[in-house]
Amino acid sequence: MSKSVLVLFIVLSLGFASAFKPVVIIHGILTGAESMVIIHEEIQRYHPGTLVYNTDRYAGWSSLENAWHQVFEFQNDLQQICKDHPDGVILLGYSQGGLMARAVLQIYPDHCVKKFISLSSPQAGQYGTDFLHLIFPSLMAKTAYQLFYTYVGQHTSVGNYWNDPHHQDLFEQFSIFLPYINNDLPSTNSSQFRDTLLKLDQIILIGGPDDGVITPWESSHFGYYNGTDDVIPCKQRKIYLEDRIGLKTLDEDGRLKLITMAGVKHFDWHLNVDVIRKVILPYLD
Ligand SMILES: *[C@@H]1O[C@H](CO)[C@@H](O)[C@H](O)[C@H]1NC(C)=O
Ligand SMILES: *[C@@H]1O[C@H](CO)[C@@H](O)[C@H](O)[C@H]1NC(C)=O
Repeated sequence: MSKSVLVLFIVLSLGFASAFKPVVIIHGILTGAESMVIIHEEIQRYHPGTLVYNTDRYAGWSSLENAWHQVFEFQNDLQQICKDHPDGVILLGYSQGGLMARAVLQIYPDHCVKKFISLSSPQAGQYGTDFLHLIFPSLMAKTAYQLFYTYVGQHTSVGNYWNDPHHQDLFEQFSIFLPYINNDLPSTNSSQFRDTLLKLDQIILIGGPDDGVITPWESSHFGYYNGTDDVIPCKQRKIYLEDRIGLKTLDEDGRLKLITMAGVKHFDWHLNVDVIRKVILPYLD
């Protein structure tokens, strides 16, 4: 290589290295890093040079472990990544992984995440038989609370975000995870749980009516059932109106994006190249 070609080469590779922020990916329940390979590859195809961290932690059955355990370990990894990339990274979580990812941000006051992308994640909780039967074939949504709202039931991630609209008293009494990270219940960490999300440049929540697993699907946008099974959209719920975790402030600043895509089934979001190109890539920079 001649000297000038070599210099050009170095300039180009430096240019690529800094052009796009690294992307950190957290997979969904009962799968692992291999399930996120298509997103990983599409990002690198369209944004050459992007570093992608596609975690394989809590893959397979271990994805059912207690949510706090998962969140603390993911946070350890993110800390190392932030050390290496002080200019910031983008965090993307799919399904349960998007809920874990959001909690990772909340327990990490100095996080370096600029944008958070939640791909069909039960951010306001989950209450539905279809989802339940993927993991617990003999449980029914109506009675699952009897298992999940117990000390033992809280050993599993699904129990941690099971949100039974007809047993909100038990939910708040037993759930050790969702009511806290959503600031339904005040704790010593409440203001931190809000401030950490307010640090984001942008929060992108993607979901859609044909999901079939996240129930109600609006949970992907922080919407949820009220006591008579009517779905109340995010912007009419207390979590937004009282700005409990900063969603309202983010929205008023133009930093909250609620994206609805019809025709996408739950197990296709992370595989569907159309979704990746239309609603994920535009937010990566
Ligand atoms: C909440 O804050 C306390 C005190 O700062 C800390 O020890 C605890 O680990 C925090 N819990 C979470 C889940 O962040
Ligand atoms: C739930 O919301 C619907 C529609 O807004 C309303 O008619 C109903 O009374 C609400 N139920 C409860 C228990 O608040």
